[in-house]
Formats: sequence, structure tokens, C-alpha cells
Amino acid sequence: MPERVAPEVRILANAEAAVPFLLDEIRRAIAPRPAARGPALVGFATGGTYTAMLKALGAELDGRRIDGQSFVATHLDEYLGYPPERRGGMVHELGTNCPALLAMLRAGTFFPVPHVDADSALRAHDELLQRAGGVKLQFLGIGRNGHLAFNEPGTPFDSGFHRTRLAETTREDARARFAPEEPPREAVTSGLATILAADRLVLCAFGAAKAEAVAAMLRGEVSVACPASVLRQHRNVLVLLDRAAAQGLPGQQVAQGAC
Ligand code: GLP
Repeated sequence: MPERVAPEVRILANAEAAVPFLLDEIRRAIAPRPAARGPALVGFATGGTYTAMLKALGAELDGRRIDGQSFVATHLDEYLGYPPERRGGMVHELGTNCPALLAMLRAGTFFPVPHVDADSALRAHDELLQRAGGVKLQFLGIGRNGHLAFNEPGTPFDSGFHRTRLAETTREDARARFAPEEPPREAVTSGLATILAADRLVLCAFGAAKAEAVAAMLRGEVSVACPASVLRQHRNVLVLLDRAAAQGLPGQQVAQGAC
């Protein structure tokens, strides 16, 4: 049995305070590598949690303080039937917050999650990630119900890329983004095994609405009832929270970050 190392947990003032930590994670992941290994693959996450970080990353890339040639990019999930140019979709959101990612998409160095569920498309995407050496650094958010990407409660831990039905809480949380249309019912998502295969995982959660899911992730049973609890099976995880999201955790579990 490999030794388990509990996730490192840090408490920060807010999402903005997390930005320097997140940019440092990127810098470390893409630090010069042997030419044979090629540029590092960084997996981004969507959602309000990452807006500040994506905007800051855009400024770093535009200012060439982070070299856009030194990494390749991907992300976690996409609504079924939402190609990159469609408003509401995940690639559209990533490109809106960080236009440099759209330039990478055009250059073929940003690998979008397929918006169709054909087995061949999902397999090809997975193979693309493998050929890029696998995900070196994966950013993650968490749903109110403990989901990771769109792996809703009940998803097996050994899942790869797959088509999934969204939980009602997930659809409710996405409602404003699609108004006046109805939020989608289905998506294509990376699986929990896909996520666990990354070298390093960094999960952010901010706000009281996430407190219950965060406590279940770090303190509850490791079980498909809380998909994010699977992170406790990984040896290299950082969790960044604000105080509101951390309110269900005992004091000794958290290290104080720069507050
Ligand atoms: C969606 C994404 C998740 C993300 C979640 C959190 O459900 N599929 O990957 O973690 O949103 O979103 P927010 O950051 O807006 O709370």
C-alpha cells in the first residue's frame, strides 16, 4: 500500500489572495524541463473560483512574465453541444477570462475537452493528454454537492472521460450563466481516475456555500457520495480555502497562509 499524505490545506483571505500561490504553481510546473519531455501540460478549471487567477494569468502571459510557449493547456469538462465559440461553454469562459488561451487554442497548444460524446473523440482527447506526458498540474474547484469537474455523487473513482448528467444543484448554480435559456442537462467530463493521474492537484474553494462539501472532502468518509474525497487517495494535493469555506474544519487541520 503506498503511503498516504494528507492534502495540505491553507487558509487565505479570499480568491484574490490565492492568485500569487496559483501563479507560482504554474511557474513551478512549467520550469525548464529536459527538451525530450516537451512543454508541461497544465489543466485549468472553470467557475467563478478561478476568474481572478485566469485574468492574472492573462496579464502574466501578455507581459511575457510567463512564457506561453513553455506549457500546453487543457481543462476539465465541457457542456454537451457547446463548441469553443458558444457562450456558456467552458472553453468560451476560459477564453473570455484569459484570451491568451484562445490564442493557444488556435495554435493547437490548448486541448479542449470534446463537446461531443463519441467514444472516438473521448479516446482521442485522452491519448492527446498522454502524448503530452500527462497532466503535470491540475487546478480544481468543488461543487456544493462535492463534485469534481462534472463527476457528480455516485461516479465511480475509476472513471475516465465520459458523458454525464448534471445534478440539479449543479444546474441551479449554472442557471445565471445561461439565462434566459435553461442550463444544459449533460456534459462531457474528465473522470476521477483522469484527475487522480495528474502529478499535482490544487483545489480552491471560497465562500460559505462550499463549507459542507469541503468538510466532507477532507473529514468525511472517502466514498463516491463525495467525489472530491477521492483526493485523499493522491499524494500531492494543495487545498486553498477562505475562512468561510473552511468553517467545517478543525483548527489543527489548516496552516495559515498569507491572510
Ligand atoms: C462547475 C465545474 C467544476 C467547478 C464548479 C465550481 O461545476 N464543472 O469544475 O468546480 O463549477 O464552480 P464555481 O467556481 O463557480 O463555484
